[in-house]
Amino acid sequence: MTLKTAIVLSTWAALLGLSVPAAHAAPSSSEESCRACHAMDTTKVGPPFRAIAARYRGDPDALAKLKRSMLDGSSGKWGAAPMPPNAITPAEADRFAHWILQLAAQSD
Ligand code: HEC
Repeated sequence: MTLKTAIVLSTWAALLGLSVPAAHAAPSSSEESCRACHAMDTTKVGPPFRAIAARYRGDPDALAKLKRSMLDGSSGKWGAAPMPPNAITPAEADRFAHWILQLAAQSD
């Protein structure tokens, strides 16, 4: 391998190394915003994700209800604090709702 080839390859490796996690693994900024108010197991401003999963387990409308709460906001279901509408797309709401609901299946 020539020096030039090595430099080209390592440059590609660096580019891939930076772009792969950004596309697939790193939390999106919207996920970070949820975590300001939600944790997995403890109540912060909002209820823990596992408690939400447990509460809606077996509810055939759970997906639709959770998506509406995320997009339009929610109040009075869990406690005194309301959740304001989140700046996320319907596709993101769908992804979050699926992710939360599958937590209940995991804890079996
Ligand atoms: C400013 C704080 C705050 C942020 C940011 C926030 N939540 Fe909430 N969330 C709450 C509170 C408070 C509740 C309880 C609302 C209630 O009692 O109806 C809640 C409730 C929920 C519920 C249950 C809704 C229901 O119908 O029972 C889900 C699901 C949820 N949040 C998901 C998310 C997701 C996903 C995000 C990020 C996109 C997010 N939340 C961002 C505070 C927040």
